[in-house]
Amino acid sequence: MSRKPVSQNSRRKFISNVAQTVVASAAIPGFIKAAEGEYYEAMKREQYAANDNIQIAVIGAGGMGTADADTAISVPGVKIVAACDLYDGRLIAAKERYGKDIFTTRNYREILGRKDIDAVIVATPDHWHKDISVDAMNSGKSVYCEKPMVHDVSEGAAVVDAQNRNKAIFQVGSQGLSSLGNEKAKELLAAGAIGKLNYAEGFWARNSPFGAWQYDIPADASEKTVDWKMFLNKYPDRPFDAKRFFRWRCYKDYGTGVSGDLFVHLFSSLHFITGSAGPDKVMATGGLRFWKDGREVPDILLGMFDYPETNKHPAFNLSLRVNFVDGTADNTYLRLVGNEGSMNVEWEKVVLTRNKAYAAADDPLLKTKQVKEDAILYERKKMIAPDATVFKSEEGYKGAHFDHFYNFFKGIRTGTAVTEDALFGYRAAAPALLCNDSYFLEKAIQWDPVKLKLKT
Ligand SMILES: NC(=O)c1ccc[n+]([C@@H]2O[C@H](COP(=O)([O-])OP(=O)(O)OC[C@H]3O[C@@H](n4cnc5c(N)ncnc54)[C@H](O)[C@@H]3O)[C@@H](O)[C@H]2O)c1
Repeated sequence: MSRKPVSQNSRRKFISNVAQTVVASAAIPGFIKAAEGEYYEAMKREQYAANDNIQIAVIGAGGMGTADADTAISVPGVKIVAACDLYDGRLIAAKERYGKDIFTTRNYREILGRKDIDAVIVATPDHWHKDISVDAMNSGKSVYCEKPMVHDVSEGAAVVDAQNRNKAIFQVGSQGLSSLGNEKAKELLAAGAIGKLNYAEGFWARNSPFGAWQYDIPADASEKTVDWKMFLNKYPDRPFDAKRFFRWRCYKDYGTGVSGDLFVHLFSSLHFITGSAGPDKVMATGGLRFWKDGREVPDILLGMFDYPETNKHPAFNLSLRVNFVDGTADNTYLRLVGNEGSMNVEWEKVVLTRNKAYAAADDPLLKTKQVKEDAILYERKKMIAPDATVFKSEEGYKGAHFDHFYNFFKGIRTGTAVTEDALFGYRAAAPALLCNDSYFLEKAIQWDPVKLKLKT
């Protein structure tokens, strides 16, 4: 069934809502006039309440694992009791950070065997996400798995199946979609704020060694301090290579390129905002232009995606770009465009820009006639709605990462659905992973986003 085009009525209703709010802005605290044509509306969230303790472990206690654990324990009633990593330095750091009494191990199965652990954070490199997540759910644990949910598109079904079979609480870590900004964008799109969606674009620009994944390699890195064999998982055996271990994103066996690393965030937000299951056609091009450090993946990637019409949204096109050699770095955006305006969506801010004079519904000839007739009497000027309306989160907002974890723990406590379950996570990961396939195979890929199958 096709989505009904946004009717004139609903469009007018939206405009009148915005107009009325703007008129009343001076009287409403939190609605601030910024510059000419720009208005801020503070976005709010309900209060959080503390509850009973949930005991967690982090598996993969590196950069994101530590950030995840820090945020997780900032949610009231959550305690970290264990950490697992393949590099000893990370385990020492975890004890220093979370207390010398926490249990540490190199083997995640020892974490899963413990009765005192309710939930695990899986923040290993991508090539371990599926195995650890499935094993964890089969062991009765709730799981917060970092994005992309899987390393290869063929792995997704196993995670969805483990979630459903175990009735597990499983949240994928594209935290942006839990943000006030993404929620506001979803609400605005549904209200007809940009008219009928026809195009979206996203971009990620970086220009530094760290941004391009050239992370520091610890001086003590060796086969003694690192469980190299375990790291390799099912991928080809090779001699210890610290670069592969600490800069795993650069290698196809362990990472998922810029697309799996960054596009996946944009897919997650876009799918949340539009209610989409994903594109049915994926095309990519790009190249390795600058960071020629032995990496196997491009540092510039352009992806194009066709989204078919569904009962949630009209057909639209998506264009995504990552550039790791961008002199204007560091910026990123997600923009949704409709026939009546556009939205720039951030996690803490949405900028809605609308056509000042929307003429599509007016016959240009009739319009000319009308103007002429009016001019005879009195050519009175009109009130014009503001160009841009800026929605900003309230001061003190804890942010998307907190919200995502809050949502995960709420799911564990109350059994309510999480925002990014395995099916959602698979649908967000699939086009990102297929984008890599398209790049390497040099062909467009047809995908069925509902049945989650390649179309032949
Ligand atoms: N949501 C976000 O915004 C965000 C941001 C950064 C990274 N990530 C994701 O987080 C994950 C980790 O990325 P990172 O930047 O923290 O990498 P990292 O290299 O800093 O950390 C990964 C850690 O996992 C450990 N590890 C590897 N295999 C393991 C295994 N089998 N068992 C236990 N530990 C293992 C490594 O020793 C390392 O300490 C990736 O999937 C990445 O895509 C998400």
